Amino acid sequence: MAARVAPAVPDGLDVAALEAVAVDVARAAGRLVVDERPDDLGMSEKSSRTDVVTEMDQRSQELVLDLLAQRRPDDAAMGEEEGGRTGTSGVTWVVDPIDGTTNYLYSVPAYAVSVAAVVGDPAVPGAWRAVAGAVFNPATDELFHAHRGGGARLTARTGTTVLRVSTETDLALSLVGTGFGYAAATRARQARILVDLLPQVRDIRRAGSAALDLCAVACGRLDGYYESGLNVWDRAAGELVALEAGAVLGGLDGDVADRDLTWTAGPGLAPVFAGLVRDLTRTHLGGPAQG
Ligand code: IPD
Repeated sequence: MAARVAPAVPDGLDVAALEAVAVDVARAAGRLVVDERPDDLGMSEKSSRTDVVTEMDQRSQELVLDLLAQRRPDDAAMGEEEGGRTGTSGVTWVVDPIDGTTNYLYSVPAYAVSVAAVVGDPAVPGAWRAVAGAVFNPATDELFHAHRGGGARLTARTGTTVLRVSTETDLALSLVGTGFGYAAATRARQARILVDLLPQVRDIRRAGSAALDLCAVACGRLDGYYESGLNVWDRAAGELVALEAGAVLGGLDGDVADRDLTWTAGPGLAPVFAGLVRDLTRTHLGGPAQG
């Protein structure tokens, strides 16, 4: 297993400026996916028949990468779809051009463009950290954004608010979000986790966008969230928003989320919630989760 060494934030890196870039770029791509949505989305299948990519995922990513190349030419970039580039600055942009593609396909208003600036190597679990990010849901015009050490904010039509996680401490009263991978075998195992978890909590939500789920914990719409099999682009920006709103976050073993498990909750709930979702993940998922 690769060493989990969280990289230091380089001296002099202006993380507030990176947040401003993330905000602009996520907004531009979000408008594109709404304003230029064609009648025929031009879908193709990825890992399974239900895991699809649309023409607009690809166009959104191209726009994000083009805008980043103009504003941050020395940075690297990687995204969910094909493309990306290397850089020299030590900053890598991690992009999900539409997180919640299935919602987008069905016009369910819970999908987002997720853009994060990270330091370290985002291809190695635990060897990177997000320093700035934005998650924009163009269907609701909600923009979640943060930079390391600066708190997390939601900018909506009504203005900008500082985000704080919920103060819930009682698992039985907690509203918990989760999500599922695309592989049928993984989903069967994730369903077994749910069977054991559901009787112990207030209720479950499956919104369909991991990035928005993490932001939902940040603003107290969820008390906790967990999922196995997330990719770095699903969670890089949302994790930072949650952490900056006071959430505790971790993975199967420690305080770094990974592909096996990502969990987050407010500090009052975190110990019992982490214990439960870790136990259930170990019991039902066994080895590493698959998408
Ligand atoms: C998916 C969404 C979903 C989560 C899946 C992700 P995509 O991302 O975030 O909520 O449950 O694990 O793969 O495919 O829509 O970009």
